[in-house]
Amino acid sequence: MNKNISIIILAAGKGSRMKSSTPKVLHKISGFEMLYYSIKEAQELSDDIHVVLYHQASRVQEAMEKYFTGVNFTMQDHDNYPGTGGAVMGMNLKYENTLVLNGDMPLIQKSELEKFLDYKDSAIVMSVLDLNDASGYGRVIIQNDNVQKIVEQKDCNDAELKVNIANAGIYCFNTKFLNENLAKLNNNNAQEEYYITDLIELAINQNLKVSPLVVDEDNFKGVNSKFDLANAEVLHQNRIKKEFMTAGIIMRMPDTIYIEANVKIEGESILENNVTLLGNTTIINSHIKTSSVVEDSILDNSDIGPMARVRPASVLKDTHLGNFVEVKKSNLNGVKAGHLAYLGDSTIDTGTNIGAGTITCNYDGVSKYKTIIGKNVFIGSDSQLIAPITLEDDTIIAAGSTVSSDVKSGELFISRAKGRTIKDFFYKFFGKK
Ligand code: UD1
Ligand code: MG
Repeated sequence: MNKNISIIILAAGKGSRMKSSTPKVLHKISGFEMLYYSIKEAQELSDDIHVVLYHQASRVQEAMEKYFTGVNFTMQDHDNYPGTGGAVMGMNLKYENTLVLNGDMPLIQKSELEKFLDYKDSAIVMSVLDLNDASGYGRVIIQNDNVQKIVEQKDCNDAELKVNIANAGIYCFNTKFLNENLAKLNNNNAQEEYYITDLIELAINQNLKVSPLVVDEDNFKGVNSKFDLANAEVLHQNRIKKEFMTAGIIMRMPDTIYIEANVKIEGESILENNVTLLGNTTIINSHIKTSSVVEDSILDNSDIGPMARVRPASVLKDTHLGNFVEVKKSNLNGVKAGHLAYLGDSTIDTGTNIGAGTITCNYDGVSKYKTIIGKNVFIGSDSQLIAPITLEDDTIIAAGSTVSSDVKSGELFISRAKGRTIKDFFYKFFGKK
């Protein structure tokens, strides 16, 4: 793992273009904050990781400490040293080379970052993009495979604005060079900030090598707005789905499917269009039909939907759920619930059939209660099971029952008001035609 490299992740910027009270790097793609992905990839390469914070620093730090240990969070002296150059000042770096990443680039991958480590003779290796239109980016002037100059868009003259080689914003520095030159930065530029990019000119003036590394735009996309966020998520989703399809999962109209980054899908599984899989969900040899949602649950050898919803902490094995069935915090083993049901806080065993319109009444407004249903239970349509309640093996609930006490093996439970018919009532009420 340890590649003899320190990593700094810049995450102090305000992200004003996001137009949000949430810090930019805490906006999520595929279920996780953008900064999560940068730290995760960094941890694959290094044990010396520094995350630079400033705006809403404690909120960002707390969010990341839910996932990671051993990360150094440092506060930028933003009042005195704003800008990407200011962000890397005053670091205590452990290794000979230092990779600088941006916290708002959630698509970067370890395999791409490793390419920065191949250059041994350079003071700086910097990522560049070869674009059709580089507007928004700093422009990079390259000669004889060496970076000559880098100019921020706001500081460009007309000729420089036409350059389509852009600074992707990720750099690998010789740590000694970085430490010796940061104090030489100034803020004489349009934004009155300390630019990390000015280190390039300093290196060139010292006759040191600055190597450009052309990188793939899709992996180095920076997110500055909610439009960028949506586009980055689409790319990220495509990556997730491609991996599953390569592993043998069938997806119908994959562009309409949404799968969060922690989901696992195994075996011969099928996802139809509009399926949403969230959180720590695992799907094994199962068929998820159109417009179904599964969150933090396990489905094994089961089929659900169309339009079924499996909410957190559910485990379904050898089970069939039809349309408009909602399951929450329940364990279903060999169960059929074909239509329109709510099964919450329940355990239901093999051979049991849940009729249409069955509801577990699991909540009395204060607490939640359990429903336990044994093997081979037949629950007639439109039944309400008032928890806490146990229906033992081999029992029948008559359609339309409100069940409020336990049912023993072999019994039928029926609660039904006696019906009657009134002769010719229709004609008396509406009159005869
Ligand atoms: C920067 C580069 C530009 C490059 C572009 C690529 C500079 C001066 N410019 O511009 O050449 O084309 O990235 O995306 O570096 N940050 C801090 N502290 C600060 C300011 C920013 O930590 O004081 C962090 C931000 O949170 C962000 C990163 O640095 O993660 C980049 O900042 P941003 O303002 O997005 O830089 P750009 O203007 O995009
Ligand atoms: Mg900026």
